[in-house]
Amino acid sequence: MDTTVQNILVIGSGAMGRQIGMAAAVAGFSTTVRDVDSDAVAAAEADMRRWIDGRVTKARLTAEQAADAWERIAFTTDLAGPASTADLVIEAATERLEIKRAIFAELDSLAPAHAILATNSSTLGSSTVADATGRPDQVCNMHFFNPALVMRAVEIVRNDQTSSETVDTVTEVARAMGKAPVLLNQEIPGFIANRLMGAVRDEALALLADGVSSLEDIDTAAKDALGHPMGPFELMDLVGLDVSYLIRQATYEQTGDPQDLPHPLLAEKFEAGDFGRKSGRGWYDYE
Ligand code: 3HC
Repeated sequence: MDTTVQNILVIGSGAMGRQIGMAAAVAGFSTTVRDVDSDAVAAAEADMRRWIDGRVTKARLTAEQAADAWERIAFTTDLAGPASTADLVIEAATERLEIKRAIFAELDSLAPAHAILATNSSTLGSSTVADATGRPDQVCNMHFFNPALVMRAVEIVRNDQTSSETVDTVTEVARAMGKAPVLLNQEIPGFIANRLMGAVRDEALALLADGVSSLEDIDTAAKDALGHPMGPFELMDLVGLDVSYLIRQATYEQTGDPQDLPHPLLAEKFEAGDFGRKSGRGWYDYE
């Protein structure tokens, strides 16, 4: 690996955190995935065990590569231990500012002075947490995509104080993970990919609301006319309608532009608790 980073700590063991950690371990980094909730830690570990066993079954990894990767990853509720040796921390906790600020303040007191503190947030620019630390130049966004073990892009977003060294190091780490870094030189709501995805989604929701077509046919058009891997409704179900809704709500809070409000059809699903695959029902039924 062409990087000075050896030890990575991922905060949060949800759908994103566990896969970011596993991708780092497969790439050769010594990785810890940490969560406050021991049940969540156990669920993440079991899920990633199934994933890595599946890699061997599918002959994507040899048994030896899988065993080595598994050796390099730990799942834990402990924070102080893994933080004390981390070169890079990637925070993938709940999208709530006060929680993230508390995490960054704690990490700042526990992690070595050289460690970079990155956030996987898709809605909060790192400037909102950088000033909770004494190292704002070593703070940035490192935004991965779902499923993080598969999607190659990582948006690296610098805030006003992020140093060039920090950007260079996280770019090297992303490359060492086999990812395709995308650099944003300023924080903008939605970054790049969610803005592009949002534009397609808005059109899809408008077509559905206007009764032009069924959601299945709109998805078919996206896939079979445009070559998208998933239709916009399937994608919302994968990402989570709650996540899609909250991203939009957060964007609106930043811009104040009513056009950025979540579409009423999306709001309806959100309020009904139909979050997509994770809840068994979203635009499609998974039960
Ligand atoms: N976890 C891990 N690996 C997965 C996976 C998952 N949830 N789902 C699929 N995969 C792997 C499979 O194991 C398979 O790997 P292999 O080819 O090496 O064996 C590979 O992905 C392809 O899977 P499938 O053949 O089962 O299915 P598809 O070819 O339909 O691919 C997909 C599935 C990769 C999810 C593809 O449909 C896709 O790219 N969809 C679009 C996803 C997307 O746009 N993500 C971005 C969302 S936006 C976001 O995350 C931002 C955030 O801020 C909200």
